[in-house]
Amino acid sequence: MKVLIVGSGGREHAIATSVAKSEKVDKIYCAPGNAGIAALAECVAIGAMEFEKLVAFAKEKSIDLCIVGMDDPLVGGLVDLMEEAGIRTFGPRKNAAILEGSKAFSKDLMKKYAIPTAAYENFDDPDKALAYLETCDFPIVLKADGLALGKGVLICNTLEEAKEGVKSIMLDKNFGSAGNRMVIEEFMTGREVSVLSFVDGKTIQTMTSAQDHKRAKDGDQGLNTGGMGTFSPSPFYTEEVDTFCKKYIYQPTVDAMAKEGREFKGVIFFGLMLTEKGPRVLEYNARFGDPEAQVVLPRMKNDIIEVMEACIDGTLDQIDLQFEDNAAVCVVLASDGYPVAYEKGKVISGLEAFDDKDGYYCFHAGTKMTDAGLVTNGGRVLGVTAKGKDLKEARANAYAATNWVQFENKYMRNDIGKAIDEA
Ligand code: AMP
Ligand code: GLY
Repeated sequence: MKVLIVGSGGREHAIATSVAKSEKVDKIYCAPGNAGIAALAECVAIGAMEFEKLVAFAKEKSIDLCIVGMDDPLVGGLVDLMEEAGIRTFGPRKNAAILEGSKAFSKDLMKKYAIPTAAYENFDDPDKALAYLETCDFPIVLKADGLALGKGVLICNTLEEAKEGVKSIMLDKNFGSAGNRMVIEEFMTGREVSVLSFVDGKTIQTMTSAQDHKRAKDGDQGLNTGGMGTFSPSPFYTEEVDTFCKKYIYQPTVDAMAKEGREFKGVIFFGLMLTEKGPRVLEYNARFGDPEAQVVLPRMKNDIIEVMEACIDGTLDQIDLQFEDNAAVCVVLASDGYPVAYEKGKVISGLEAFDDKDGYYCFHAGTKMTDAGLVTNGGRVLGVTAKGKDLKEARANAYAATNWVQFENKYMRNDIGKAIDEA
């Protein structure tokens, strides 16, 4: 069959790597893709938000399955348009992708269906938000309602900071229209875990757990980023936590969406915080995480196409989802200065070292092929992933592999997976 993947990051490279392993697949296209994906797929120069062109391309090539990896096109309704054109597509429709697209929606859903999360209030009037702050304990968390590249969350330690935050989100519109509404919520403490799941509208099957490192610098210092590295599984995600989440979070979320007439098919990403009072939902995403996908998918034993088709057909209950009994660590190689300002166009060398090594992956995020060879083309450049028999071995393997790759201004965190030493 012919598959079209929409997206261009490390997540889409990880998806393409899994898709390429499927015996059902003859040909992969990726729009727009990147230099790494180009080794597996024919990359086409259509942007992820150019819906008309994407649908026309899918029809012209008689695509059998379209996989939408990124949040923007999901929230914008690309799946609906593909389906209207008769193209089978993996991912939630627009009315379900709102689970990620509006934090106010997802908080109201959790409240209505008693799914554990931080206490909160929604606001569309900045004056009311400012008045509410006077009644709050600090720290407090401010969230722009809409998509903001993972950057629309502000943790404020004082009333003054919080007032500045409301101004930045709702009045100065520093996150654009994502800040037309906002959520103000209780600050929680605990370990964070990412749990991705496949959903077919009624059945949910969770994948192995993972943990991201969102801050730019070692010791969780510096600014929030898209994610600087991940490990999987999380040793803090115990049987007990899993049992609780299955009962009070996972299935209840899927059922709630169905009851609201927003049947969810695709991937639900549960961003959880393991608090003293038990697991709480920090956020939902309507897609694979990036870089969570880079440690979760390489450990999945199933044919990804079979699982995705089961999600579309509503037969996920017949799939025996299985993961390898090992571990994986992904260290992101970024351009120094990310997420603020950084240079692009630096020549990358050493990637051939990955060619003949089982259990090692170099997923491309921001790269470009030029006459000068492969160059950096973004903040997050590559995701170096390695497996190991356990987390310690996987971490040692991943950090060893980061030395195989060279480019000017290469930057990485040196403590990805350090938390496992405390487990
Ligand atoms: P989100 O995009 O909602 O996952 O938020 C980004 C990051 O902000 C999370 O990964 C947490 O580290 C932090 N965060 C979000 N909500 C809260 C909260 N209620 N309490 C403490 N930290 C939070
Ligand atoms: N790694 C977090 C995300 O994909 O949103």
